[in-house]
Amino acid sequence: MTVKHFLTLQDLTREELLSIIHRAIELKKNPTLAAYQKQKTLALIFEKSSTRTRVAFEVAMTQLGGASIFLSNADSQLGRGEPVEDSARVLSRMVDCVAIRTFEHEKLVRFARNSTIPVINALTDDFHPCQLLADIQTYIEHRGTISGKTVAWIGDGNNMCQSYINAADLFDFELRIACPEGFQPDSKLVDKFKNRVSITHNPSTAVRGADLVVTDVWASMGQEHEETQRISSFSGFQVNSELMTHANDSALVMHCLPAHRGEEISADLIDAQDTVIWDEAENRMHSQKALLEHLLSQ
Ligand code: CP
Ligand code: NVA
Repeated sequence: MTVKHFLTLQDLTREELLSIIHRAIELKKNPTLAAYQKQKTLALIFEKSSTRTRVAFEVAMTQLGGASIFLSNADSQLGRGEPVEDSARVLSRMVDCVAIRTFEHEKLVRFARNSTIPVINALTDDFHPCQLLADIQTYIEHRGTISGKTVAWIGDGNNMCQSYINAADLFDFELRIACPEGFQPDSKLVDKFKNRVSITHNPSTAVRGADLVVTDVWASMGQEHEETQRISSFSGFQVNSELMTHANDSALVMHCLPAHRGEEISADLIDAQDTVIWDEAENRMHSQKALLEHLLSQ
């Protein structure tokens, strides 16, 4: 049987993704229902910082009765230049699943090609599919199905934005992206799903009538040196109360975190009493647990 990976959302079918999300909702209510993964081990190879993704995976593995091993570049031979292909072959013989956070998406693909165990994308420069599981779970929990709804992405055409493009196709929603000139997502990806995705440079146009408004930092990990320039390029692209007056009254605001209050999102929105952003963060654990259960039970 071919091994199942989760490098982008498109590695799973719509049915599989929805079943993982509904399982996450179920496990959140009753964690004892989990299919225990006793003696299974997850390796976490992280070449970038993380709070949520790492903790979610480690806690999920603990609750599933398995174990996890965290490897930063400082600890593993990958950090000293051992080929990813060799690392994939060796880890395949020792652990049961690998989650990787790295820069080039191609590096993750090369690892997966040489792996006989499931490989999960824990974030690359191009995609962050685990975050989408949590975001869709959060939307469903608060508002029901996302199918047929309108989502506005405000800000950088980055890894999160590109994952929303994939999600628009798989979860059947309209995605309106508002980004400054020069910060669009990959044009091939936009073209591929052009029946679902549109791009504007005007945030209020994108948000008009939206059911969900999503944003993310203006400078992603690896772009820290561009931060000052980006703050000026993205001025006018803040998600704030004024922008939200154009959205539907029941619209939710999401942010994958970490957030920069006063830049891509105003403090009053993120600190609002009724924000779902903390549920969104918590759901990383439930959805990654359901994902692990799915991949490890193949
Ligand atoms: N949202 C997210 O992936 O957070 P971390 O970088 O803390 O893992
Ligand atoms: N776009 C951000 C997401 C962080 C979870 C980054 O890549 O840094």
